[in-house]
Amino acid sequence: MKIKGKEYRTIWHEDKGVKIIDQTKLPHNFVIKELKTVKDAINAIKVMEVRGAPLIGATAAYGIVLAIQESNDPEFIKKSSDELIQSRPTAINLKWGVDRMTKKLSGINSDQILDIALKEAKEICDEDEKFCENIGINGLKLIEEIYNKKKSTVNILTHCNAGWLATINWGTATSPIYHAQKKGIPIHVWVDETRPRNQGANLTSYELNEEEIPNTIIADNTGGILMQRGEVDMCIVGTDRTLSNGDVCNKIGTYLKALAAYDNNVPFYVALPSSTIDWNIKDAKDIPIEERNSEELSHMEGIDENNQVKKVLIYPQKSKAMNLAFDVTPAKYVTGLITERGICVASSDGLKQLFRK
Ligand code: MRU
Repeated sequence: MKIKGKEYRTIWHEDKGVKIIDQTKLPHNFVIKELKTVKDAINAIKVMEVRGAPLIGATAAYGIVLAIQESNDPEFIKKSSDELIQSRPTAINLKWGVDRMTKKLSGINSDQILDIALKEAKEICDEDEKFCENIGINGLKLIEEIYNKKKSTVNILTHCNAGWLATINWGTATSPIYHAQKKGIPIHVWVDETRPRNQGANLTSYELNEEEIPNTIIADNTGGILMQRGEVDMCIVGTDRTLSNGDVCNKIGTYLKALAAYDNNVPFYVALPSSTIDWNIKDAKDIPIEERNSEELSHMEGIDENNQVKKVLIYPQKSKAMNLAFDVTPAKYVTGLITERGICVASSDGLKQLFRK
């Protein structure tokens, strides 16, 4: 998608390095950063220079490429793979990306290993782009249905950033929106600010602006009243891990939005590529929920009157804060899952119908 009119993907390999858009600098500065070592890739995931489930999976794949460039000692590659998987706990794509690389590289001799790793990491990115495009084509039908009934602007609420910056291109939740815009359907997006890191305000609103899609940032608690007033036609969110029973783990606050949508008969859709499905964990209580540094709550970053980025403390000095980064929305509150293969009910039967081998 576009930034200042120029097409980008979120990650690519160039001259032995891996280039990323540093998301910690957005929206005030657009910075392309080079990752040179696997440690750089691990750090980029940890500090969220790259974030969003599909993108951290792809970064982990390129992390393995960087590890191989440093040394093709199998022990070093194994240790690097383990550290990549541990860099963030909740999004299943991270393990999925590393496991896919490990499987591809097993038994490959040292002359060929780098070329094969590079090809597979690029394949993971190309596939994610294609899957997200298909999510858009499938989700577009839902927006069209609403538009055909309503004949006026379709209002869509989204949470966090499940836009193209969270994937390789298109995004998951935003892909149907971008496809609807290309079809000429008038769209307006309610963007949840998404405290504490404000991925909605800093990233979703930013990328929608760059694609000229009308959007309005709202405080995380505003969605409920907008739904009561009939000002939300549908919700579309992303996910970091969807269980085979249709339970959806996503950015903290998603659950409360789903409850409000359920109470107000607003359709609540979750968009995901199959790399985000966890076919192993059966009980949502077993999903590892990331707890991040409480400084993300107690401090805020912005630009001052001289256009300088500044970080300030906003809480009382002595107050404690707790920062759980994800929650789980039970399948019963999810109207449907929009995947690259089609739309299904959020249930094991629904997912089986689409993903039967
Ligand atoms: O902590 P983040 O910013 O990585 O959380 C991201 C989300 O919760 C997204 O909604 C999710 O990864 C889906 S990305 C298409």
